[in-house]
Amino acid sequence: MQSFKYTEENEKKFQKDAKKYPKIDSMMLPALWLVQEQIGWISPEAMAFVAEKLETTPIRVYEFATFYTMFNLKPIGKHHIELCKTLSCMLCGSEDIKAFIKQTLGISPGETSEDGLFTLSEVECMGACAGAPMMSFDGEYQENLTKKKVKDLLMECKK
Ligand code: FES
Repeated sequence: MQSFKYTEENEKKFQKDAKKYPKIDSMMLPALWLVQEQIGWISPEAMAFVAEKLETTPIRVYEFATFYTMFNLKPIGKHHIELCKTLSCMLCGSEDIKAFIKQTLGISPGETSEDGLFTLSEVECMGACAGAPMMSFDGEYQENLTKKKVKDLLMECKK
């Protein structure tokens, strides 16, 4: 198993944040975020690393990492498309947007494009129902989606 450790900078952040928590195992979410910021996903090696840092078991880290959909459990593309699939977005056309992404990039939810540029995920309501259909694109909300809007965004990334 390849080992994982924080970069020097992330180790400093971890140590600084750890001072804010009365118990080290309360650092689970910040510790996982640091991993994802560093390598883009939560690898099994990183889970073992976090378990050791937080003085807990790898299975406990696994439980957290798999419970929250914002954590990626496998490597993702350079750009992460998280398309909302919940009711308001669905009623306003998220299925059409999903079909358009599949037609344009050749990927379904859970897949990464062959060029490694895009990963598509389907997620539950992100609290922006008034802007349905919507998606998070590299962490930024894109609302009132149309095929044209999605196409422009994707093409911009391919430049
Ligand atoms: S249903 Fe899509 S953001 Fe709420």
